[in-house]
Amino acid sequence: MGEWVYLNGTFLPYDEACLSVEDRGFLFADGIYEVIAFQRGWAFRMADHLERLERSAAAIRLPLPRPLEDLEAAASALIARNGLEADEAIVYLQVTRGPARREHAFPPRPEPTVLMLARRVQPLDRAKREQGVAVITVPDTRWHWCHVKAIGLLPNVLAKQQALEAGAHEAVFVRDGRVTEASAANLFAVFNGVLWTHPADQWILPGITRKVVLELAARLEVPVREEAFSVEHLAEATELFLTGTTIRVLPVVTVDGRPVGSGRPGPITRRLEEALNQEMERR
Ligand code: PDD
Repeated sequence: MGEWVYLNGTFLPYDEACLSVEDRGFLFADGIYEVIAFQRGWAFRMADHLERLERSAAAIRLPLPRPLEDLEAAASALIARNGLEADEAIVYLQVTRGPARREHAFPPRPEPTVLMLARRVQPLDRAKREQGVAVITVPDTRWHWCHVKAIGLLPNVLAKQQALEAGAHEAVFVRDGRVTEASAANLFAVFNGVLWTHPADQWILPGITRKVVLELAARLEVPVREEAFSVEHLAEATELFLTGTTIRVLPVVTVDGRPVGSGRPGPITRRLEEALNQEMERR
């Protein structure tokens, strides 16, 4: 069965979906996106994703061209059309300011482009999940609005590539000496039994998985501090993990080649990983 995509209210075979060469998403990265997890046809925390989409749209002054309920229904329909109802899948949803003659200022009558793709989640290498992954630290060269899920991801792309070329799984951004997050994931650290993560301000993307992990930590009575920590402090973490829609909770066992704690995934990480998996499998 061929792949179907959603474009501006219509479901189309992948090869028949066309965009203008002057779509502002293409020319200016003038757009926003979401990545939503589906388990056996059910969206995980759809309301949170739609809320974040609305906030991102408002931040870039982009009126969403369709009601959120329509987007929600279309995302589920796209999963079904692609035969992914029995799988672990994601919907990638992107909204741009649409096609217009190239001019920096907004077009007088924007016609936003809405695109959705549905994909099966490629399971992460078992060894990585069991043994944990390596990360490197890199300067955070992103803009000052990291809370907006904008499609302009060049610093993230370059950081991720640098990590892979260094034999690591992710790059952790450091801004003004403080650890923010990873190129495509949030970061948590354990210091003296307390779980730390950067506050949800303009310097990180407020991840939906991050939010759920904080809820689970409260439920499991793990003490939490939403506070930034320095890159020097990072070396003293006894546990470290990444969170994101497809990676869920992923243990980190080395930073710039140095082991984190015992060099193995820690107990708080494992409890939260297990709790998140249960939460995501639950309808
Ligand atoms: N990335 N921080 C950044 C910079 C991200 O790009 C992501 C997700 C996250 C985690 O957010 P969430 O828990 O809502 O997935 C944090 C997505 C998956 C991507 O760009 O593909």
